[in-house]
Amino acid sequence: MEVLDGKKVSNDIKNEIADEVQKMKDRGEKVPHLAAVLVGNDGASLTYVGSKVKACERIGFESTLVKMPSTTSEVELLAKIKELNEDSNIDGFIVQLPLPPQIDTQKVLLAVDPDKDVDGFHPMNFGKMALDMSTFIPATPFGILELLERYNVDTKGKHTVVIGRSHIVGRPMSILMGRKGWPGNSTVTLTHSHTKNITQIISQADIVISALGVPNFLKAEMVKDDAVIIDVGITRVVDDSRERGYRIVGDVDFENVSKKASFITPVPGGVGPMTIAMLLKNTLLARERHRN
Ligand code: GUN
Repeated sequence: MEVLDGKKVSNDIKNEIADEVQKMKDRGEKVPHLAAVLVGNDGASLTYVGSKVKACERIGFESTLVKMPSTTSEVELLAKIKELNEDSNIDGFIVQLPLPPQIDTQKVLLAVDPDKDVDGFHPMNFGKMALDMSTFIPATPFGILELLERYNVDTKGKHTVVIGRSHIVGRPMSILMGRKGWPGNSTVTLTHSHTKNITQIISQADIVISALGVPNFLKAEMVKDDAVIIDVGITRVVDDSRERGYRIVGDVDFENVSKKASFITPVPGGVGPMTIAMLLKNTLLARERHRN
C-alpha cells in the first residue's frame, strides 16, 4: 500500500510554480494575480479562502481578497464580478461557494469572464473540459488527476466509481476519468443519492473516488483488494482536544481500508492541499494566456 501524499506533491507543485514566478520577475514581467471573493462568514469558507491567499503570498503571486457581507444582494455581487472581469491587473478570480440563499449561484458563475475563470465553473469551460478542449479544469478534480499521474497510478481500462455528483467534484471527475489519455481511459460509474445497490457497485471498483461528505462512509468490507482509494471528504467534527475545537474527517475509514488498498489518500494531507496547488496552477496558466 502506498499513501498518495498530497501535502508533499502540492509542495512540489508550489515550488515549481514559484520557480516560474521567479523567471517572470527576472524577465521584468508582471506576476500572476489571483482574486478571491468571499460573501458572508461561513467558517469553512473563511479557512479555505485564507489558505488560498496565503499560498499566493508564499509562491510570489499577487492576491486580492474581496470580503462582502452575508447580506450582499445578487446585483451587488454581479457588479463586483463585472469590476474584476474588467480589471486588467487581475488574471483570474474565484467566487467562493456556497453563496447565501438570496444569490442565484448559476447567474454568478455565468457572469465570470471565462478567460479569468480559474475555478473552471463557467459553462463554457465546463463544456470545453467535456469536449477535451484546452481549458481551466476545476481545481479538486485537477488535483486528483495530478496525484494519480505523479504516483504513476494505472487508470486505463479500470472501473472508476465516483461517489457524489456535485458540480465541483463528482460530475467533473466522472468526465475526466473517462476522457481519452492518462489519467483517464477509465470506465466510469457516477453514483449518487438515488443509486441502487451502491455497495455492490463500489465492491466492483478498481478506483473509488468518494466525494460524499459522510465521515467513515467507506469501510474495508466494501472495497476490493488492491483498490485505489481517493478520499475527497472534508467534514468538520467537534473535537475539544484541538485548539480550534474541531478536526477534519474524510469519507474513508482510513485505518482499515488502507490495509486493503494499493494506493490511498489520507485526510488531511491528501486531496485538500492539491486543490490549492491546482488553483495556483490555473492562475499561472491564466497569466500566460493573457501575456500571449
Ligand atoms: N467551495 C468548495 N470548493 C470550492 C472550490 O473549489 N471553489 C470555489 N469557488 N468554492 C468552493
